[in-house]
Formats: sequence, structure tokens, C-alpha cells
Amino acid sequence: MAKDFDSMEDSNRSANPSIHEVSDPARRVFLLGGIGALAVGALSPWLAGRAFAAGRGPLLGFQPVPVSEADLVLVPEGYEAVPIAAWGEPVGVPGNMPAFRWDASNSAADQAAQMGMHHDGIHYYPIDGSSTRGLLVMNHEYTDDGLLFPDGKSNWTAEKVAKAQAAHGVAVIEVELRDGRWEMVRPSKYARRYTARTPFKVSGPAAGHALLQTEADPDGRTVLGTLNNCGSGMTPWGTYLSAEENWAFYFDGPAERGADQRRWGLLRTGLSRWGEHDPRFDAGRHPNEFHRFGWIVEIDPFDPAAMPVKRTALGRGAKEGAWVATTRDGRAVVYSGEDARFEYIYKFVSRDRIAPGGARANATLLDHGTLYVARFDADGTGRWLPLVQGEGPLTADNGFADQGAVLVRSRQASDLLGATKMDRPEWIAIDQGGRTVYCTLTNNSRRGAPGRPGVDAANPRANNTMGHIIQWTEDEDFDATTFSWRHLLLAGDPDNERPEARGNIRGDSFACPDGLAMDTRGVLWIQTDITSDEKGRGEFQGLGNNQMLACDPATGEVRRFLTGPVGCEITGLTLTPDGSTMFVNIQHPGEPLTPREDNLEVPNLHSNPADPRKYSNWPDFRPDGRPRSATVAIRKLDGGPIGT
Ligand code: FEO
Ligand code: CA
Ligand code: CA
Repeated sequence: MAKDFDSMEDSNRSANPSIHEVSDPARRVFLLGGIGALAVGALSPWLAGRAFAAGRGPLLGFQPVPVSEADLVLVPEGYEAVPIAAWGEPVGVPGNMPAFRWDASNSAADQAAQMGMHHDGIHYYPIDGSSTRGLLVMNHEYTDDGLLFPDGKSNWTAEKVAKAQAAHGVAVIEVELRDGRWEMVRPSKYARRYTARTPFKVSGPAAGHALLQTEADPDGRTVLGTLNNCGSGMTPWGTYLSAEENWAFYFDGPAERGADQRRWGLLRTGLSRWGEHDPRFDAGRHPNEFHRFGWIVEIDPFDPAAMPVKRTALGRGAKEGAWVATTRDGRAVVYSGEDARFEYIYKFVSRDRIAPGGARANATLLDHGTLYVARFDADGTGRWLPLVQGEGPLTADNGFADQGAVLVRSRQASDLLGATKMDRPEWIAIDQGGRTVYCTLTNNSRRGAPGRPGVDAANPRANNTMGHIIQWTEDEDFDATTFSWRHLLLAGDPDNERPEARGNIRGDSFACPDGLAMDTRGVLWIQTDITSDEKGRGEFQGLGNNQMLACDPATGEVRRFLTGPVGCEITGLTLTPDGSTMFVNIQHPGEPLTPREDNLEVPNLHSNPADPRKYSNWPDFRPDGRPRSATVAIRKLDGGPIGT
């Protein structure tokens, strides 16, 4: 989800100190030495890594593509990228496959059986281990109501709210490679949608908590819907994890918002207008509904009858996603970060070991364990701080009477623990064998602004418009409470005038890293999300449309692999087990170039319904069509692994 630099959530006013500014004078001098000094420091480990890379042959075998402003998906020579499963396509529910109407006049009921809008995190689940037939499970993050309806936000009705809610959530589709082309299998017994109205079970320590009880659900154990689903993770036991990211923007707040509501970014008037026809989203009337979103949800792709679950033990937040590593003795470690300015990075360590037997055998695995928040120290080490009620400052006197309260208010708990305020943590990628974890920090233009936290060792650039990627290696095992860290790279364009916007990339330039994943060959894939009103301007002038790049983390080399259509964001990727197909999501092609209206606290993400093709008409290019988010299936023409 693109977020306007000037207006996105920035609600952390906690007093926890920016320890890095004061704890290590030597480091501070190093940082003040400028970006050139940083580049030299960050590059030296890569030189050692390069010898290792030479021994195993080149990881990146393709010719990079140039930056692009074309309304196309472009990939290297020898590859093809074919769009499938665009917004509005029927997912394939038997007996319920409404065709997409090009004028956007499908009903709410139609939409609930079609692909949702704004594809995001995605994973491929092979059927019987196959690389030619499987399920794709993907998130639909939010809606552009100017494209969703023939008349946009005008004539706002309960039916329109229902359609917008049906265009959110998650889709499960079956796909098959037939005669060299990936196609949706329709109908399919697996095909289904989860929307902002689907019942979800609440599990873990906050299930049934007073903060989750509402008039409609006095037990606090069943929530209708998931929304703003952003990044996604695949568990070793075969389920899908999806994060509810910017749920706060959907709610209307009361005239006087309390301290907790302000800390969580509740707006007086939310962006969705759902509250006008669905009182759940009026937080003045139903304040606890606001606590029932912001969770990691777990879905079993192969069991349509299984109720999806909100896993409260993993903590509440504007989380980007959730990604799983395993300890040597078989416990699950789930990493996540909150994509908001000056928020935190978390990990959850399960109490129990992953059991053989798939999803059913691990139905409560993510309900028991310990949640931690990260502190990055200036000397290159770090510490995981436990979010456990009764430990340290997390006491009843400080507002944490039980573990449920700690989890619902994990931001405030992390404030008290002195966690490190990061530059918008987005996706996380895990190198299981190397015990190393990578996290994109997409940007933070408020870093170093008057009254806001200054630079620190982990977030070293003021007015960080370009973003960076941090990496850490856990001491001993993934459940360790200590780690060592460094920057993989600082993003930017070396042609920029401002030193802080140049970065230190070895290879092709990019900005605003967001999606991130490591494939089985060890390639780190980086996807970008420069917001549309910044693209092609100022410091972003030379970077073109959003893109995907491949990085060899051992050498730091970065090569541009894909460029997207106009106004899009590239987000979410997954590979078949043999590595021969990569599915990548193209989100919001044609996003308005000037999304911000002065009277809004956050950006206007909606197109003009009278001119839906103004910026993009990808992927259909029909004269009567409209831009649609879609998945692209990428294959190498010689059938080899992607990236070689
Ligand atoms: Fe949905 Fe943080 O991107
Ligand atoms: Ca994202
Ligand atoms: Ca983003």
C-alpha cells in the first residue's frame, strides 16, 4: 500500500530514548562522518563474501533491465511475464463464477466470489509437490473506490460498503501450467475468498479479553473479517500467515480520541466511509472493534472448511507480514515488523515444537510462546526484549494487568521496554541456514525532523526518503535473545545531490524497498514501493516505475530484474518448488499521481471514476477497461530457474 510521505501514520510520541545517539561516541562520530564513510564500512564484509561467491559460481545470471516509465511489465531477455488472476476474475467457486464487468458494475455478491483488489503477499502451495499445479493464496490489501465502482465514492450506500469489504481480504485459487501457460483452474474445490466479513476465530492469550468484547460478540472470540492484508508468510506446517496492516485508517474515531486511540493512529474521520453503513467501524460507538484488527491471521489453504484464526500471541500492530524460521530443535520463530514511522520489529518464539502432520497437528502452535521486540545497539549488537506481563515495566500499575493487555497494546509495551524506533519495517526474509534475517526499512522522511527522533546507528539517515535494508544474525539459534547486525545496503540514486539520498548500492539503483524474499538458491529479491506522487520527481527522478531487483547478499551486487507498469507497486513473490516459475503481484497500476488532497490527514488513494485509464490501462489495454491489479507468472524461456 503506497503511503504519502507527508501524511502517513506517525503516532509514536513515546519517550523511550534513542539510545544510539548517546551510547557510543565513537559510532556517533562515524555516522557524522557522512554517507561516504558508511559506504566503506558497509562494503568491507561483502568483499570477503565475494570470494565465497566465486567458488559457487554466479548467483545472478540474467542481463539487467533498464529503468522504465512504460505501462508494461518488463523482464530480462530470455524471460516472459504473463498476467493472470486480475482483480474481478471469478476465483472459481463451483456454481458461482460471475464474470468481471468492465464498467465495474459487479455487485457486492459478485465481488465476494471474484479476485479482490490490490494484490499483495502471495504464496504457491504445490499439489502433491507439483511445480505445474498448485494453489495460490494471496492478499487483497485495499481498494481504489474510483476504480471499484462506476461512479466512485458518489452515492455511497450499504451495498457499496459491502462491495468494498468483499474486495478486501484473501483469495485462494487453483492454478495449473497448461501448454506452457499458467491458468486458473475453474471451478476448483479449493477456490474461495476471505473478506472483511468472513468469521475468524480469535485464539491465544487475548482471546475473550475484555478489550475484545463487543455488543455483537460479547465473548470476544469471533471477529467478522480481515482487512488491509499486506505481506504474507508460509509456515513449515503448510498454512498461510497474513498481516492486517493499516486497519486503523478504516475506523472513524470519536470527537475526543483517548491516548490509546491516538497512539494507534485512529483518525477522527477514517478513509473507508464504512462506518456510515457498518457501525462496527464507528469507533465512537464500538471502541473495542478497533482492538479486533491488527492481528496476524492463519489460513489452511487445503481445508476450505477450517475456520481462519487471528493469532493474538503474535501481538497486535500495523504489521507488514509474518515470516517463520525454525530453531534447531524444531520450534517456530515468527518475525514481523510494524510498517509505521518509528515503530518496532518483533519476533515470537513458540513454546512447542512443530509437530509432523501439517496444519491440523499444529492448530495451536502459534498460541503459546514468547513475543519479543528488538533493540539495535550502536556497537552492532542487539537484544530481544520480552513482552511478558509482570516482567520489567509491564505491570498492572503501568496498565498491563494481564498478557492480553500486553498483546493488544504491544506498541505501548514496546515503548516502555525501550525498543528501537525504526524507519518503517516492511518485509522480512530469512536465511535459515545462515541464521540471518533481512528487513526492508522502506523510508522515513520524518527521521531527524524537529521534535522527532534523530538518526541512530540502525536508522542512520535524516530525512530518509530512500530507505535501507538491515540484516541481523541471531547468536546461537533463532530463539536467541541477542544478535549482531549491520546494513546490507542503503538505497538511493548516486546521481542525487543530497548525500543522504545517494545510498551505497553496488549495482542498479532503487528506492523504497518493500517486498523481500530469499529463494532457495540464496537470491534476495527486493521489490520497491515509491509512492506515486513522488515517482519521477526530485530525488526519485531517475528511478522510473516501481521495480524488482535481485541481490546476491554475499557480494551485495544488485541487478534490476523487472519493472512494472505506470503507477503500480511491485509486491509479493513466490516460486514453484523447482524454481522455474515465479509469481509476482502487481498492485495498484494507475494509482493517481497526486493522491493527496489538502483536507485529508492521509492520502487519497482513489482514481477519478470518470477517467479510470488516465495513468494506466494495464494489463488488459481495453478501450472500455480499467487498470487492474494482477499476478504475473514469470518463466525463463529455456525452463531454467528464475534468476539464472
Ligand atoms: Fe502494505 Fe507496508 O505495505
Ligand atoms: Ca508493503
Ligand atoms: Ca510500502
